[in-house]
Amino acid sequence: VRVPSPQNEPILSYAPGSPERAGLEATLKRMASEQVEIPILIGGKRIRSTRTDTVRMPHRHSHVLATLHEADATHAQQAIQVALEAKDEWARMPFEERAAIFLRAAELLATKYRPVLNAATMLGQSKTAHQAEIDSACEAIDFLRYNVHFAQQLLHEQPTSSAQTWNQTDYRPLDGFVFAVAPFNFTAIALNLSMAPALMGNVVLFKPSSTAALSNWYLMELLREAGLPDGVINMLPGDGPTIGNPVLASPHLGGIHFTGSTPTFQGMWRLIGENISHYKQYPRLVGETGGKDFIFAHASAADDLDALATAIVRGGYEYQGQKCSAASRVYVPESIWPRLKSRLQELIAELRVGDVSDFRNFMGAVIDEKAFKRTSSYIEMARHGGTEAAILAGGEVDRNEGWFVKPTLVQLTNPRHRIMQEEIFAPVVGVYVYPDARFEETLRECDQSATYALTGAVFARDRKAIRQMMDTLRHTAGNFYINDKPTGAVVGQQPFGGSRASGTNDKAGSMLNLVRWTSPRTIKENF
Ligand code: ALA
Repeated sequence: VRVPSPQNEPILSYAPGSPERAGLEATLKRMASEQVEIPILIGGKRIRSTRTDTVRMPHRHSHVLATLHEADATHAQQAIQVALEAKDEWARMPFEERAAIFLRAAELLATKYRPVLNAATMLGQSKTAHQAEIDSACEAIDFLRYNVHFAQQLLHEQPTSSAQTWNQTDYRPLDGFVFAVAPFNFTAIALNLSMAPALMGNVVLFKPSSTAALSNWYLMELLREAGLPDGVINMLPGDGPTIGNPVLASPHLGGIHFTGSTPTFQGMWRLIGENISHYKQYPRLVGETGGKDFIFAHASAADDLDALATAIVRGGYEYQGQKCSAASRVYVPESIWPRLKSRLQELIAELRVGDVSDFRNFMGAVIDEKAFKRTSSYIEMARHGGTEAAILAGGEVDRNEGWFVKPTLVQLTNPRHRIMQEEIFAPVVGVYVYPDARFEETLRECDQSATYALTGAVFARDRKAIRQMMDTLRHTAGNFYINDKPTGAVVGQQPFGGSRASGTNDKAGSMLNLVRWTSPRTIKENF
């Protein structure tokens, strides 16, 4: 039996006076006044640790939201053992029963847990209500429903048989456990990293980002309430290497499902390489890492400069530029630059930055002090960049109450300037203005300078130019947008992932991702 193709969860508006607005405001108020204890979760048991950390609001860093219990190597070993003990029963449970648990989680998230997950994502990760809604509500629900749909399609994929011979593919889980390591910037990604392997019958060790631990803990509560058996997903918050080193050394490592920084992923890959002869199987390495995502405009984009300006502003500054897909290098022809520049300056001047509990704000704070310092140093680099760099908008930072950075636009005369090349992961957008006659050469520059290849967008009305851009930038982005911003991939519509230093391109939100969490057995039976 196939479930009908799912629909994307509608985005709620949170307009003043709406019931969802009242529910979310009440939850924000309650969450801001309580102090949660976030435990280590092993086999359904909540474990406290002697090592703790605090989870704070990025936009009001004196405010502690939760105490986080940090796992150590002993907890990691315990979690491996408990997960392996839970594995057999989970792997043998009929797929339909596993699927039902995640579909029930989708329903719970669409209703009871929606304000909880949104409020936790707003307060803990400094997302505005809209950014939280498209992440911790809609995208998370979509991952739950669509992954079930994709898994059903995959299970349907069977070889041909004859009258005398029956051939079948048995989609077994991996022979071990999966280590899921999540980033701070998307609550939905944390859910997908752990639930996609689990749906396919795997048991999971899940390491949340400490800065997103509040929303990620509520994800665990959601899955428990939906009926996920103990031990299937075990949560190990804490320091990366302290937890990761023993986990990656386990002979039972079946794979890693990672989203985070390029150096961390490369470090894990190296460690796995060193341990390669110890494993029962070659671990599946699935990772989505950084990006230096482009917007490339052709002169024919002059027909709709507003669309281009909006894409730069939304792609570059929504969620403070902390999406791996965020636009951070922009290429513009001279012929349209003067008009585009003044439109961008107008739009950026209108953007409000502040506490995300005030629904009028467009941006919150960057995630923590480390991000604030890194961003400030790039802004300083622009400020002292001589003739190579000019700050056209923003450039102010304020650390008094929260880690605030104003949306910043920098024009660079050198397309290889560090601001055009390095991932800053903050609301800083670099612009390089090229002579119209150098369109093709600049396109090649955009490709050749790209160490990352996650997302990118091109703007043009001229079909020939669009074709040329698609061709020259064929390997420059795993998600390629024409006349749209490079962020906001929707599960089921734009499978997400990139190549080069951006990851293994095992498209999140598609069957291609789920394939990685099975180790198929081919069975032939003669009659
Ligand atoms: N999937 C997220 C986006 O497309 C990262 O913006």
